Amino acid sequence: MAEGSIQGTILLVGCGKMGGALLNGWFKRGLSPVDTIVVEPAGRDAVMPCKTHRALTCLPHVKDVPRDFRPDVVLFAVKPQIADDIVPHYASFVAQQPVFLSVIAGKTTAYFQRQLGTDAIVRAMPNTPAAVGKSVSVLYAAPAVSAVQRRVCEVLMSAVGSVEWITDESLMDAVTAVSGSGPAYVFLLAECLRDAGIAAGLPADLAARIASATVTGSGCLLEQSDLSAETLRQNVTSPGGTTAAALSVLMASDGFKPLLAKAVAEATKRSKELAG
Ligand SMILES: NC(=O)c1ccc[n+]([C@@H]2O[C@H](COP(=O)([O-])OP(=O)(O)OC[C@H]3O[C@@H](n4cnc5c(N)ncnc54)[C@H](OP(=O)(O)O)[C@@H]3O)[C@@H](O)[C@H]2O)c1
Repeated sequence: MAEGSIQGTILLVGCGKMGGALLNGWFKRGLSPVDTIVVEPAGRDAVMPCKTHRALTCLPHVKDVPRDFRPDVVLFAVKPQIADDIVPHYASFVAQQPVFLSVIAGKTTAYFQRQLGTDAIVRAMPNTPAAVGKSVSVLYAAPAVSAVQRRVCEVLMSAVGSVEWITDESLMDAVTAVSGSGPAYVFLLAECLRDAGIAAGLPADLAARIASATVTGSGCLLEQSDLSAETLRQNVTSPGGTTAAALSVLMASDGFKPLLAKAVAEATKRSKELAG
């Protein structure tokens, strides 16, 4: 696979929400469908990118992959609960020396080393804004992964958004709690803002639209501005004004900050439990 562009051969295992978002991102960045094989038991018709990329091969089982297919990357995007039943079947590709890239939450590089018998493992934690090219993915590479393989994984994940690297794999539980689960917290904020607007007397459809647009617009401003979140918040807040009145509740000692810290700690704990 060439550096900086998406060329090469990829075996994608599981093409649901995350696998499908990645595949779409790769095609937008120039990946050729003829160099890609998808293993997805739901079948061709269930794999959205198949509808626009007729040359894409989608197979129901790993045993159907042609013997002469030599993937540069094998990417696992199946649910953690079924990983034990799926991952070991891909050990047959190890001889071809691909890098194995996993987005499976909670499954460590040690897990893949045990299941596959190779050290060429990269673990990634993306999030659902991948569907619109706005994911943030945090990557960890096992020590034996080469610089070229790291770069290849970075290019693949950057097709759906930004990429960060960590060198301590144990941080992946906190990453999962902050950015993996994070979109749910933001959507909950939009829901709560809508419901608070309704409680304050707004018509439900208007409350939903302005709550959603406020979250979206604030996210875009945060992305495009050079200012920090703190400064942007302060810029909305006039002394003695309406925002200050609201923030006196949200920033109280029992307000948003300790609540979110508790939520992230709980998600981190759960991520550790799921990793076993
Ligand atoms: N979605 C996210 O925001 C997100 C974020 C970070 C990480 N992840 C990780 O990404 C992984 C996939 O999540 P997802 O949300 O994309 O789940 P998903 O939509 O359920 O996709 C998983 C896909 O794997 C398929 N599959 C089942 N058995 C298979 C097999 N034997 N071989 C190949 N494919 C098989 C499923 O097909 P069927 O539906 O027919 O069973 C499904 O299409 C998970 O491990 C998750 O932890 C997801």
